[in-house]
Amino acid sequence: MKKVFLNLLQQPITNSYLINTKSSTLKKEFFYNLSMIINLSNFLVSIKKPVNPKIQYTDIYAHRASQSKTMNLSFKKIAEKLKKKFRPKLTMEIGSNDGVFLKNFHKKEIVAVEPCKNLAQITNRNGYLTYDKFWDTNLARKIIKKRGKIDLIYSANTISHIPNLKEVFKAISICLNHNGVFVFEDPYIGSVLKNNSYDQFYDEHVHVFSQLAISNLLNPHKLKIIKTEILSTHGGSIRFYVAKKDSKYKISKSVKKIYDSEINLKLNKFSTYKKFSLRVQNSKKQLMKLLKKLKKANKKVISYGATYKSATIFNYCNIDKSLINYVVDTTKNKQWKYTPGKHLLIKPPIDMIKEKIDYAFLGAWNFSKEIMAKEKKFIKNGGKFITHVPKVRIIK
Ligand code: TYD
Repeated sequence: MKKVFLNLLQQPITNSYLINTKSSTLKKEFFYNLSMIINLSNFLVSIKKPVNPKIQYTDIYAHRASQSKTMNLSFKKIAEKLKKKFRPKLTMEIGSNDGVFLKNFHKKEIVAVEPCKNLAQITNRNGYLTYDKFWDTNLARKIIKKRGKIDLIYSANTISHIPNLKEVFKAISICLNHNGVFVFEDPYIGSVLKNNSYDQFYDEHVHVFSQLAISNLLNPHKLKIIKTEILSTHGGSIRFYVAKKDSKYKISKSVKKIYDSEINLKLNKFSTYKKFSLRVQNSKKQLMKLLKKLKKANKKVISYGATYKSATIFNYCNIDKSLINYVVDTTKNKQWKYTPGKHLLIKPPIDMIKEKIDYAFLGAWNFSKEIMAKEKKFIKNGGKFITHVPKVRIIK
């Protein structure tokens, strides 16, 4: 049985930054209802009615994973770790974005899958064979016909974007070598509940995983989790190491440990999600109260990071130009566009120094350390950051 536990109202597609705010442009903007459900038979948390992926992953897809130093470093680290541990002859990445993981491999030792044509073009141009297709069983068969079975499959922040997980895992089991390993990482529902980070829910995060849910979903495909890691990336992620049930791999202690912690957190109980939903409603109230107070005191407030996450917040809380002057972001192809739904202008971060901004809401709170280290001048001039995780507050 599937039950709704949270309604985040009408939301736009987070990656659809607007090039202008003419009424003809606004008329075409797509909105959908973002309601979150829990499937009480396998404990998977998902969007009730996901958006059609063909509308989301287009040839103007804006996100570039290599924009952040933190992400470059973390992909380098995991690539080195996996190469050392599994010594794969052939690796595949699903959702290769602009090649931030691929570049740690020799071009002949890795194949990539990336449905956004603009991104696939970048990595193909750089010599990494990239299929600009959605991951499914047809593509899996095509790839093994050309390259043979795969020793290591890696995917970051992609599997949770795919509505049909049955098809995903079936395709994995088709092309994974007998002793091959599939490693994937995505935002963790345990961290969302702990941080009250309801902004992890947006159109692309069709599901937010727990180990409970993934082990239930892998079972029919004769796949097992051999190891699990909880990560700090993206404000709390979970990394699964998956292998065939009859492969040589034993199950590490981490799996039992995380199973126990999830039972302890009551991730298998509807009431847990319902309580979380009340905390989300309170978070909205607190944030609105703070922003209105700052507005009344004539403070200049902006948001830092034109993130997908902040689109959920702005649209759910109804935060527009009257409360937040604009958004800053270092990504060139986001600058001088407008945020989806609430249409805040995106500028380069230098503008918040020039314009003597008082407060910056951390839309990219998962990078707060990197941002604060970078924006010393803003802080020195008396600028302060605001966050909503785990509670709404001004960071002292
Ligand atoms: P990301 O973490 O991918 O969040 P989401 O998945 O919710 O979009 O996005 C981080 C954004 O923050 C990205 O647009 C780049 C921007 N950014 C800055 O502008 N300055 C920085 O110092 C960092 C680290 C990121």
